[in-house]
Amino acid sequence: MRSRTLTILMGFTVAASLAALAAAWRLPGDNRGYEPVQPINYSHRLHAGEMQISCMYCHSGAEQSRYAGIPSTSVCMNCHQEVRASFELVQQEAQDAEAEDRTAERIVSSELQKLYDTLALDDQLRPLEDKAPMPVPWVRVHTLPDFVRFDHRPHVLSGVSCQSCHGPVETMERVRQEAPLSMGWCVNCHRDVNEHGVAGKTAYASLDCTTCHY
Ligand code: HEC
Ligand code: HEC
Ligand code: HEC
Ligand code: HEC
Ligand code: HEC
Repeated sequence: MRSRTLTILMGFTVAASLAALAAAWRLPGDNRGYEPVQPINYSHRLHAGEMQISCMYCHSGAEQSRYAGIPSTSVCMNCHQEVRASFELVQQEAQDAEAEDRTAERIVSSELQKLYDTLALDDQLRPLEDKAPMPVPWVRVHTLPDFVRFDHRPHVLSGVSCQSCHGPVETMERVRQEAPLSMGWCVNCHRDVNEHGVAGKTAYASLDCTTCHY
């Protein structure tokens, strides 16, 4: 009796995991198009596209670790200590001031004001004494389940571009998920890499279950 229950239970487990496997292969785990609103309207189109700041300037983790990483506000302040509004607004204020025969005011963009607020800075960008700086609570876009092992480093170092997995981020006002991030998506590319190589070089990307599963 006991061993029979056990057999049935095991049967269920196998069936359940096969069903899950089939589901994972068939359904493209679809979170594609997910584009959460962020606490600050930071634009990749402006920074990485128009201004051509390299992805690595902010996501250098991608070459060194599992995680690409989100830059801290101090990286933003390398520029936004000086740049407090768009060039257009600053120029507009300069023209208005001249026409009205007064000195131009220092314009601060409302989106950048949010950045200064999280850093607890006053309107001269000096630290406020009664407030503590906080990180920007960016909303995560891409997430894999906990049982999947993913590492940026081997991908980036072998020459897979950020865009082949994340789409044309440098054109996005707000980041959205382009790829399905399903098992079929990972495995298809690994197969393709083994047949055709990557970035003009031969490469081997394992298809073993334990490569991607703990
Ligand atoms: C000046 C800094 C900066 C540069 C340059 C930059 N990023 Fe980002 N990136 C950020 C910040 C801040 C976030 C978090 C807010 C957001 O999602 O927009 C982010 C988020 C992302 C995300 C979403 C992460 C998640 O939550 O899943 C991806 C993907 C990404 N960046 C890829 C890129 C790529 C590809 C490039 C180059 C084409 C690039 N980034 C250039 C600052 C930058
Ligand atoms: C290499 C310099 C540089 C870095 C680093 C940088 N920015 Fe910018 N950013 C600019 C410039 C220059 C502008 C204004 C462009 C223009 O004239 O429209 C700007 C514009 C902006 C604006 C739009 C302002 C408005 O209201 O028009 C926001 C918001 C912003 N940046 C947020 C960020 C955040 C958040 C980070 C860090 C993750 C960051 N920036 C990093 C140079 C930078
Ligand atoms: C082979 C596909 C692939 C490539 C290539 C790739 N990414 Fe990712 N990226 C992912 C996946 C999958 C996740 C979600 C990982 C997770 O949930 O553990 C992710 C997450 C991220 C995140 C948010 C979480 C983190 O890791 O900190 C950022 C930012 C990011 N990628 C940026 C980049 C940048 C920049 C590049 C190029 C230098 C790049 N990625 C190249 C697949 C890729
Ligand atoms: C666009 C193609 C592409 C996609 C999509 C892709 N990979 Fe890869 N993967 C590669 C390449 C190329 C390598 C490295 C081959 C080499 O080092 O020669 C690799 C290597 C790996 C490694 C390291 C294996 C080792 O031996 O160290 C892991 C783990 C991995 N991938 C997991 C994933 C997971 C999980 C996904 C899906 C979320 C995924 N990959 C999606 C192309 C891809
Ligand atoms: C290249 C990476 C990769 C390889 C190799 C891989 N998987 Fe996966 N697997 C994934 C990813 C990513 C997911 C999550 C997909 C999702 O969330 O839609 C997944 C999901 C699953 C699931 C679904 C779990 C659930 O609860 O939905 C099962 C079961 C599974 N894999 C079993 C296997 C088996 C068995 C093998 C070996 C034949 C294997 N995987 C090889 C990346 C991989």
